[in-house]
Amino acid sequence: MIICICKSLNDRQLRESIASGASSFDELQFETGVSTCCGSCESSVHELLAAHAAGTGMAAAELRRSALG
Ligand code: FES
Repeated sequence: MIICICKSLNDRQLRESIASGASSFDELQFETGVSTCCGSCESSVHELLAAHAAGTGMAAAELRRSALG
């Protein structure tokens, strides 16, 4: 499923980057370029990060805090 139309990134590509260590929104932006144009995909990116965090036992709230800076 396409997540970021601007950068032609799908959920599989983003999940791979997250699994490879891009554990915050900023890191995922840096690694993939996701959400660096119009930004309309940002909430979906946060959902992917939260889902990964939940799967690894990391608190989603903690992840969101780190994404905010
Ligand atoms: S859809 Fe991701 S930056 Fe536009």
